[in-house]
Amino acid sequence: MADRLIVFDTTLRDGEQSPGASMTRDEKVRIARQLERLRVDVIEAGFAAASPGDFEAVRAVAESIKESTVCSLARATEQDIRRAGEAVAPASRKRIHTFIATSPIHMEKKLRMNPDQVVEAAIAAVKMALAHTDDVEFSAEDAVRSDIDFLVRVFGEVIRAGAKTINVPDTVGYSVPGQWGDRMRQLIERTPGADRVVWSTHCHNDLGMAVANSLSAVLAGARQVECTINGLGERAGNASLEEIVMAVKTRKDVFGCDSNIDAAQIVPASRLVSQITGYPVQPNKAIVGANAFAHESGIHQDGVLKHRETYEIMRAEDVGWTANRIVLGKLSGRNAFRQRLQAIGIELESEQALNDAFARFKVLADKKTEIFDEDLQALVSGEPEAEMDRFRLIDLAQSSEMGEKPVSKVVFSVQGREVTSEAQGNGPVDATVRAIEQEVKSGAELLLFSVNAITTGTESQGEVTMRLSKGGRVVNGVGADPDIVVASAKAYLNALNRLSTQPRVNPQQP
Ligand code: KIV
Ligand code: ZN
Repeated sequence: MADRLIVFDTTLRDGEQSPGASMTRDEKVRIARQLERLRVDVIEAGFAAASPGDFEAVRAVAESIKESTVCSLARATEQDIRRAGEAVAPASRKRIHTFIATSPIHMEKKLRMNPDQVVEAAIAAVKMALAHTDDVEFSAEDAVRSDIDFLVRVFGEVIRAGAKTINVPDTVGYSVPGQWGDRMRQLIERTPGADRVVWSTHCHNDLGMAVANSLSAVLAGARQVECTINGLGERAGNASLEEIVMAVKTRKDVFGCDSNIDAAQIVPASRLVSQITGYPVQPNKAIVGANAFAHESGIHQDGVLKHRETYEIMRAEDVGWTANRIVLGKLSGRNAFRQRLQAIGIELESEQALNDAFARFKVLADKKTEIFDEDLQALVSGEPEAEMDRFRLIDLAQSSEMGEKPVSKVVFSVQGREVTSEAQGNGPVDATVRAIEQEVKSGAELLLFSVNAITTGTESQGEVTMRLSKGGRVVNGVGADPDIVVASAKAYLNALNRLSTQPRVNPQQP
């Protein structure tokens, strides 16, 4: 059995299906570049047929990525496969990932197709995809609740049609590790042509077992895992890339395989995805949580100081943790700024983008004497997008006093027109949001408001996420500033900007 585990990252596709996590084209390109630095084998850049914006995003990733394979998801239809093929066409290495549901409940209630029709559609999809690339992956959606004999039939047929990777998804996060490994083992043993393809697993985390199930499939012979940074994804998320990668690396004795991942890029990738999507990482999350390598108890600290392996099975620096380091300050020039961005892997599209970012850096350095790498990442994540320019914060003045209702006066632009609005609220953030809403009247419902310190100390920038819902759409807005009221105003306006972009189709709708 090959000892190489292929890492298929779907942060930009399945991760993007998390409520509010949709990303712009430029954000996707930035994350894709970090995934390439991480040496991910396959980047699933999106679902090209979802909307013109999604198509453009997949194409932009295909144009800028050289080493990793770039993939687009496509339902088993002519139109989806054509769009996917066109979107990945510029990539040096391209893949089409086509899928159809195979469980009785999905075939009957969602697709309204009988099993023979599903087999036919699957074969036709693989053949159509082969016209665009010889790297075709096929997935049987809801494989976890599909009849195993039917899966053997479908997989045998698509292998005969030319699929190179066979993906077995636990779409609803229902399996348990022993069962999932058994299913993978049986499929590999019984499917005709199984030895000509790479077997892949794709697990959701509804019962908190996505990583355990994926690893069980690896023990049973899967040699591709589909996963996301920080475990981002539909509902409770997907299997987390960092946990799978570090598990097989740390326990090579058990798994007998390893990936090509550059583990030192894990933490930067985690931060970038968190900042762009507005999904903070819980402190006790394995590998990438702020406490993952922190030893609180005296006994542990004593042990680690004497001999670190007493309590540590991995080294923090090996997965990319660095102590908060002051990297720039108020007097730093444009060149130092550019060099530091390059050192942490941020490439801006143009001189103009660099000048804009440098101007924002100067404003930040006036308020905050020590600038860390994390601040630079947040600064660039807050980069205004042309298509998201509808609302922009210009100024904010706020007053609050114990026992009095706070008042906020917000100056912002609406498609270039400057407006000023003032309101009272229960707290300064509430007053600020009310002042904006008074003018905009979006009627959106606020589902989540969270504040996270980007670095340590009270001087840290606050990173705010505001999740809004309107007409069935959910978006996350993100804003960062040393003043959390300003960060909140930025996040709220950013969410309103995202609500004003085009809606998209979910691939798992028929
Ligand atoms: O969860 C799932 O089944 C999927 C497929 C489209 C692979 O995301
Ligand atoms: Zn999925």
